[in-house]
Amino acid sequence: MTEDGGKSGKPRVLTVGVDLGTSRSAVSASNGERHVIDSYVGWPVDMVARKVLKKKVLIGDDAVENRVMLDLRRPLEKGLIREGSERDAEAVQELLSHLLSLVKTDEDGDNQKVRAVVGVPAEALRVNKQQLRNAMEGLVDSLMIVSEPFAVAYGLEALLHALVVDIGAGTSDFCVMNGRYPTDDDQRTLTMAGDYIDEQLFDLVTSKHSEATFSRHMIREWKEQHSYVGEAKDPIVVSAPVQGKPTDFDITEEMKVACESLLPSVTETMIDLVARVEPEYQAKVRSNVILSGGSCLIRGMGQVLQEALKDVGGGQVRVVKDPVFVGSDGGLALAKDAPASDWEKLSS
Ligand SMILES: Nc1ncnc2c1ncn2[C@@H]1O[C@H](COP(=O)(O)OP(=O)(O)OP(=O)(O)O)[C@@H](O)[C@H]1O
Ligand SMILES: [Mg+2]
Repeated sequence: MTEDGGKSGKPRVLTVGVDLGTSRSAVSASNGERHVIDSYVGWPVDMVARKVLKKKVLIGDDAVENRVMLDLRRPLEKGLIREGSERDAEAVQELLSHLLSLVKTDEDGDNQKVRAVVGVPAEALRVNKQQLRNAMEGLVDSLMIVSEPFAVAYGLEALLHALVVDIGAGTSDFCVMNGRYPTDDDQRTLTMAGDYIDEQLFDLVTSKHSEATFSRHMIREWKEQHSYVGEAKDPIVVSAPVQGKPTDFDITEEMKVACESLLPSVTETMIDLVARVEPEYQAKVRSNVILSGGSCLIRGMGQVLQEALKDVGGGQVRVVKDPVFVGSDGGLALAKDAPASDWEKLSS
């Protein structure tokens, strides 16, 4: 199989990196296609909804926009693939199938072989590998499932003496790189990340201002605009209705408390993973900490984590430039490099 073997009648190979996330999923492919979608899958709730929507299943933005007519699901929750009903298994398959359809081109049709690296939270890699294989069966020819922070590390070529801290929506994932494929011991998952901050902020704001109505959606938008840890830059004033009348609220302190609620666990896990590295390499790892994931955009996060490293000898934390595609691009880089022996062959 070659990347451009079409002319000789040999199947063309499309190489793909997928980042399967709790709130967003991204895909990068060897043909240059890159897409990101909200990780939502929804089925019309009844005959009326089916008649209105004219689709069996809706994915991403399409699903979010039409949510009142849908049985809406996120395939991942707190770092694991949801289980319990047939719909949960279908949701993850629909999402993956949709991501692949976004990058596949029609011109190759059935003559296209697909090999995909799928990055998932480190905990899902440990617990849900078989479900992921089942979900990918029929969608791709060759598969590799890796942890998301490892995909990030690979994409950034941070392969030796590095620590990736990926703070997403459902989980904060950690991976130490020792110049080889990471083992379970090199990786950690905390079920505290952006969704947890949203919950904290929602509780803090609603308990202080019980006269107003706040939606979870508003709370998340405010967080994405104004989040910070450490020193506040300007007061954060937002507007929410009180008995229908738009009213201003100062949420500067609540934002700080909610965002900083992650810090004790993230710092402790980071330091604990460093402490497990061979002693002579610990300083190198501390000076090569990479912060990724959507929640790395919280203002001051990199700086506060770097401060925390001072207690154990100091270090350097750098924040990735493009947290949306860094995981899927890393998966693609890995997929391009991996030898045949590293792939699982799936029948398609
Ligand atoms: N500017 C921002 N400031 C703070 N948080 C942000 C910002 N932009 C996005 N986020 C948060 O980042 C999270 C999404 O990040 P990301 O896309 O890395 O998560 P995910 O990959 O879907 O989740 P996971 O890796 O946990 O499965 C959400 O909680 C979102 O609210
Ligand atoms: Mg993620």
